[in-house]
Amino acid sequence: MTDFVEIFEVGPRDGLQNEARPIPTADKIALIDTLSRAGFRRIEAASFVSPKWVPQMADGAEVLAGVTRQPGVRYAALTPNLKGYERAKAAGADEIAIFGAASEGFSRANINASIEESLARFAPVAEAARADGIPMRGYISCVTDCPYDGPTPPGKVAEVAEKLRGLGCYEISLGDTIGQGTPESITAMLRAVLEAVPADRLAGHYHDTAGRALANIEASLGLGLRVFDAAVGGLGGCPYAKGATGNVATEAVADRLAALGYATGLDRAVIEEAADMARGMRGGQQAKA
Ligand code: HMG
Ligand code: MG
Repeated sequence: MTDFVEIFEVGPRDGLQNEARPIPTADKIALIDTLSRAGFRRIEAASFVSPKWVPQMADGAEVLAGVTRQPGVRYAALTPNLKGYERAKAAGADEIAIFGAASEGFSRANINASIEESLARFAPVAEAARADGIPMRGYISCVTDCPYDGPTPPGKVAEVAEKLRGLGCYEISLGDTIGQGTPESITAMLRAVLEAVPADRLAGHYHDTAGRALANIEASLGLGLRVFDAAVGGLGGCPYAKGATGNVATEAVADRLAALGYATGLDRAVIEEAADMARGMRGGQQAKA
């Protein structure tokens, strides 16, 4: 049997959040509706963060309300705190994600909290999600390199991953936020994390700043990971990580996985359609970076 690898589509959130030009809600909905036909099981559609911090994501509730939900697809949203969780729940997000970091500098810049403070802030979100039966994913940013603190010790990533698992995250997505990881540093990081969390509870989330995301995915496949985040059209970046470019492009990951003999269950023609739409949404100017 062909080994299955899931691509978790994050373009409508991680891809679009960094665009300086306001993108009409209807365009976001059209992109998600196209992605919904491509065979993804999970699509990150929105984030319920402070609209002052990330204005592009302020219309998350309207986006989720406007999407034509496909059976078998879970529409996910980022929730940094209880306020974000309540907004996501009211908007009908099928799953939520808390997002922390393995470096203090990025944690402070991205969510205005130390790592410890962020975990304390996530605890009530986790409790509420558990009580409501809403699945919760966890992100860790800067798993190999931080734009503020330099290289990240692998042990720190393992420590945060274990804590997120302890809070009830069903999966931990490991973010190479600024795309500086190499197959060697990704391997070292994963070996440490795998001591704490099994491979079937991990996902790779690699930005392609240095053009190494596909190589990093291959290194991760070798260590047993079978879920990778990607964004159609290679959209994206992070407003709080200067120089971070897009997520690895979904179409490139799908092609590489197919070449390696993995099944993804995705319709390549529909992905291309969505990638065209995504590229059309990309403005010249990036938001504050
Ligand atoms: P803060 O200023 O410390 O928060 O920000 P606060 O609790 O003091 O609240 C300040 C104001 O924000 C208040 O409003 C709150 O009501 C409001 P005011 O009284 O001033 O009018 N507020 C909210 N409004 C709506 N929804 C909310 C919410 N929370 C507070 N949820 C906070 C702390 C976490 C809110 C802020 O830092 C924030 O929103 N950060 C998000 C930044 C972000 O979205 N970054 C990008 C996503 S992470 C990423 O891209 C990395 C990832 O892809 C993985 C990788 O690549 O590494 C996941
Ligand atoms: Mg990201």
